[in-house]
Amino acid sequence: MANKKIKSDEAAIDVLLKEKKIYPPAKSFSRLAYVKSFAELKNLRKKALSSPEKFWESAAKELFWHKPWRKTLAWKPPFSQWFVGGKINASYNALDRHLSGFRRHKAALIWEGENGEKRVLTYLELYREVCRAANALKKLGIKAGDRVAIYMPMVPEAVIAMLACSRIGAPHNVVFAGFSASALSERIQDAQVKLVITADGFFRKGLIVKPKDVVDEALKSAPSVEKVLVLNRGIVENSSWVEGRDVDWVDALSEASDDCPAEKLDSEHPLFILYTSGSTGKPKGILHTTGGYLVQAAWTTKYVFDLKDDDLFWCTADIGWVTGHSYVVYGPLLNGATVFMYEGSPMHPAPDRFWSMIERHKISILYTAPTAIRAFMRLGESWPQKHDLSSLRLLGSVGEPINPEAWRWYHKNIGREKCPIVDTWWQTETGSIMISPLPGATGTKPGSASLPLPGIDAEVVDRSGNPVPLGAGGYLVIKKPWPGMLRTIYGNPARYKEQYFSQALALGKKNYPYYFTGDGARKDKDGYFWVLGRIDDVLNVSGHRLSTMEIESALVSHPAVAEAAVVGRPDDLTGQAVSAFVTLKEGQNPDESLKREISEYVGRAISPIAKPADIRFTPLLPKTRSGKIMRRLLREIASGGAVKGDVTTLEDLGALEKLQSQEEE
Ligand code: PRX
Repeated sequence: MANKKIKSDEAAIDVLLKEKKIYPPAKSFSRLAYVKSFAELKNLRKKALSSPEKFWESAAKELFWHKPWRKTLAWKPPFSQWFVGGKINASYNALDRHLSGFRRHKAALIWEGENGEKRVLTYLELYREVCRAANALKKLGIKAGDRVAIYMPMVPEAVIAMLACSRIGAPHNVVFAGFSASALSERIQDAQVKLVITADGFFRKGLIVKPKDVVDEALKSAPSVEKVLVLNRGIVENSSWVEGRDVDWVDALSEASDDCPAEKLDSEHPLFILYTSGSTGKPKGILHTTGGYLVQAAWTTKYVFDLKDDDLFWCTADIGWVTGHSYVVYGPLLNGATVFMYEGSPMHPAPDRFWSMIERHKISILYTAPTAIRAFMRLGESWPQKHDLSSLRLLGSVGEPINPEAWRWYHKNIGREKCPIVDTWWQTETGSIMISPLPGATGTKPGSASLPLPGIDAEVVDRSGNPVPLGAGGYLVIKKPWPGMLRTIYGNPARYKEQYFSQALALGKKNYPYYFTGDGARKDKDGYFWVLGRIDDVLNVSGHRLSTMEIESALVSHPAVAEAAVVGRPDDLTGQAVSAFVTLKEGQNPDESLKREISEYVGRAISPIAKPADIRFTPLLPKTRSGKIMRRLLREIASGGAVKGDVTTLEDLGALEKLQSQEEE
């Protein structure tokens, strides 16, 4: 099936590969960049490829180690350990290290609330808050190794909470505050979380959202949780309170000392668990450990964004996603940068909110997602044109393939044709950026993430693990371990092995398995990578990963639904959209109001992101004789294309005809 999918994507990539224009790095940018020319980058990549461990060792030396490591890499495929024997602390490297020099009073965090509220925290202030929060956690019984869930809006306390956890060695499990109670509960139960940190409310599109209510609901089925630390921002009247369980953030921190020495943790101590969708219905707890993750997060932030001390760095991702972990929190703070953080919607109170903040705060680096760029593009150039965006010097893109049209719009209207664009490919599992231009060195082609970074050995291979010819489609794999790679799926090493390495192991390459990314890609004649998107049953909607099976199981749990199949279809705005085919139970009325109700139901079961963009009712789903749902056909119907290919194995051709005629109605 995956091969067929690659073929069907080939037409799309053919269009991209016709993209001739290369945007060379501007001389004025290169002159001041860390890596100043393609020749320099080429050399760096060559050296790093011949000895990745040496390359990562030198990157690791830029961090503070309480105790040096004995062995750079211990690789027992598919399990890796990096900087073995070393002792390190993430929070110490993000904060304490900067306090002895000129960064002590430098702004670490500049925050703006949706309602216009503003806060600035210097490195010293952030350090003190983190120490207080860490002491408060300790007082609540949290020790190294205990899991803490963070279900917080984009407020400084979310960053403080993450750094407080890593300071004492309690792995954090951040759950995006848009997830439903049942999705939150599932993640809390899987990670056996002991304490949850949340807030009474936050602003989104001018309305107040109440995460504490969601936590209350989720905890009805999550008995491992003993305490809930609640940030009361005073924006929710009569917020619920469970005596004996709930603890007020302000009270807890005001009683706590601002001195909390960082735990000297083993390099392989778990730093965080972050759940992401896989090709089954159950989200996977991606486990990252400390030393290796920090090394790669720090290196990529410095070099991919060419980050300097006078930059104001804005990654628009929510801390609930890996991008927020690596490029709102750890990467920039490890580099002593000033981070900009925004609470709310890009469209509130008007569609120029982003541009207004860039102008007012003089933001110099913007890192955002193609979906956001396409949404702005739709609204026209007049919104960014109202603002002086001359403080920007670099733009980034992440989360999904960026179509050349959106790339060019971004380049012209936001970058004013002077800012390089770094299109960065990576995943929750990879921890940090893997394939990306370096802005002072790489000529960029709109739509391509360009070349693997130094120390990253990526390839496009066929089913047998052999490289495909240049220009041909195949599987994107990583051939050598890298420091930020996931270590396992929390509590399920067998699934880790099976999900990411079994195909290579099945080839008998037991000593040297490749990591399978789940993405399809092509390499062009210059060796540039063109990532097509997922080739498994994972959708990418607005840069968010969703599993078709997860949505299907939410659909069939609705009382009116007998059977359901979910596929992705291309969407101009969100990249992909969720398309659902639903068979109703006997006696149900297949009308528009039921469609709406089912869609809302999925939104409540998982998250509003997972709501199907369209639902089609069908008396039967097209299946093969062996009973497998014919997703390829459904994808073609959902995309509005004529159904092609062999349908002779269809059990019920009538089902297909009915679905098609719904299209024509
Ligand atoms: O399909 C790829 C796509 O997003 C997937 C990873 O999703 P997630 O783990 O949620 O992490 C998103 C943020 C890193 C990948 O397997 N993807 C991510 N970045 C790009 C991309 N596809 C094409 N180009 C990119 N730059």
